[in-house]
Amino acid sequence: MRPRAGSTFPWLLASLLLLAAPAFAQDAAPAPASAAAPADSARRFAHPPGTAIASAHSLSTQAGLEIVRAGGNAFDAAIAVSAALSVVEPISSGIGGGGFFLLHEAKSGRDIFVDARETAPAAATPAAYLDAKGELNRDRATNGPWSAGIPGLPAALVHLAQKYGKLPLKTSLAPAIRIAREGFPVYARLEKGYAGRREVMERYRGTRAVFLADGTPPKEGEVLKQPDLAHTLELLAAKGFDGFYRGEVGAKLLKAVKEEGGQWRADELSGYKVVEREPLRLKYRGWDIVTAPPPSSGGVAMAEILQMLQGWDLAKLDPAHRTHLIVEAMRRAYRDRTIYLGDPDFVKVPLARLTSADYAAGLRATIHPEKATPSDLLSGQPAPLEDEETTHFSIIDGEGNRVSATQTVNLLYGSGMVAPGTGVLLNNEMDDFALRPGTPNAFGVMGFAANAPEPGKRMLSSMTPSFLESAEKVIAVGAPGGSRIITQVLLAVLAYDAGLAPQQVAAQPRIHHQWFPDAISAEAGALDAATVAKLQAMGHKVNAGESHWGNLQTVMWDRRDNTLSGGTDPRNPVGQADVLLSDR
Ligand code: GLY
Repeated sequence: MRPRAGSTFPWLLASLLLLAAPAFAQDAAPAPASAAAPADSARRFAHPPGTAIASAHSLSTQAGLEIVRAGGNAFDAAIAVSAALSVVEPISSGIGGGGFFLLHEAKSGRDIFVDARETAPAAATPAAYLDAKGELNRDRATNGPWSAGIPGLPAALVHLAQKYGKLPLKTSLAPAIRIAREGFPVYARLEKGYAGRREVMERYRGTRAVFLADGTPPKEGEVLKQPDLAHTLELLAAKGFDGFYRGEVGAKLLKAVKEEGGQWRADELSGYKVVEREPLRLKYRGWDIVTAPPPSSGGVAMAEILQMLQGWDLAKLDPAHRTHLIVEAMRRAYRDRTIYLGDPDFVKVPLARLTSADYAAGLRATIHPEKATPSDLLSGQPAPLEDEETTHFSIIDGEGNRVSATQTVNLLYGSGMVAPGTGVLLNNEMDDFALRPGTPNAFGVMGFAANAPEPGKRMLSSMTPSFLESAEKVIAVGAPGGSRIITQVLLAVLAYDAGLAPQQVAAQPRIHHQWFPDAISAEAGALDAATVAKLQAMGHKVNAGESHWGNLQTVMWDRRDNTLSGGTDPRNPVGQADVLLSDR
């Protein structure tokens, strides 16, 4: 991990972070001002001067830039980045998983939310996940074939190429195919994550063939080649949807799931469809925010929290009171997440009510200015730290197109199961359903009927790919981290609002509260001792100094001076934000 500024939260520390920024800003490359004149009298430029990409690996960022150099737009670059991440970050996402792609199409001015979330196979009933005592069978929920939903990511790549890209899939998938075939150097996070999941992964012969190809687990510095995955990506490039969901790959996926005791039907695989949804929109102070609708809980929770916080001028508060109010807003939004949210194609989500200003005002009125509200409905279980699961990338191109995409296989290395001969590591997204109502999942969050599994239903997510726009700035932002995704993006909004630059936003220390467990999680440096003491006096339990979490990736276009800049999370040393200036 790169050095970070010590001590507290964004506003107080904006100036400290400004001083400290050079220590971790080496990956961000702000572009010099364009020579072109601004488009209007308010001195705002009409187009960015090039493309900015921030992603969790330098190879995926470079794959995206390679495709832009080849004439692609942000959507072609998104395909390249997404597929390359699937190759170099199997710990976090992959074509055996799913994701959400938030798009802004410059020529139409439209924002589009491409939902490529996995779907539940019909066999995956709640009863299938209970043990003999009626308890949740955690092994089945998180490991092997029963933990996997029908993958959505390959369908999203095809959809993006057909509807929004300029280049054929064959071109935009070429970098990922090359990296899969030639290999890439294993990095520390990959090695450590493998060690943590080793027992599960080595149960499956397909997984052993990829990760134990030389007889030993992946080790930092070794080159990991994935020839089967290269072949699968080639079939996807050549045949589109059918290259993955039918034919050779489809048959191998079905066979593998069956061999390991799971049940997927061929029509569930071939019938998978991405869904284009209307994104959720909200306003916070001077910002227009476009974000993820259900089946993500992220946008709804963020809308609730920000609208509750509108009632205070956070910059004027001391750190303890500011943190107290943010935490109380988080607590209330996560309670609603638990109770009301699920796949909108299956359950009626009270979206208008949950995101209305009046509802937020009602919740705000229940926040005591000096006292924590106990989350005492149910006893919570501690949420494990998540930092490596899921991945996010952000892109802005020279035409003004934007992509904010979060993709995932859920927990580290998903289900742990690679389908033999495909290189496809299956997700374990089924654990994001409320498999046993009221029982917390691996992220410590619960759910009830709204998020119970049903055939073809999408499991509730926390992924929150978002755009922020003010009179001056256009921003794409998002993060991985299970239930901690929402609060990372929320803190990013607050930090941008406080005037921080992208790299500072990515680096700022984090706090989190999710209703249950009833405790504030705080990274080292997020809250100083005096603030912790004041919060404790208000009745908060504070877990100060937790290990870091998250991996936020963000890009920003400043329309006033026409500069692009990016922020990549310094908690992840292999991430990269980069800018490619166009020659026009
Ligand atoms: N699997 C993490 C999420 O979708 O929230």
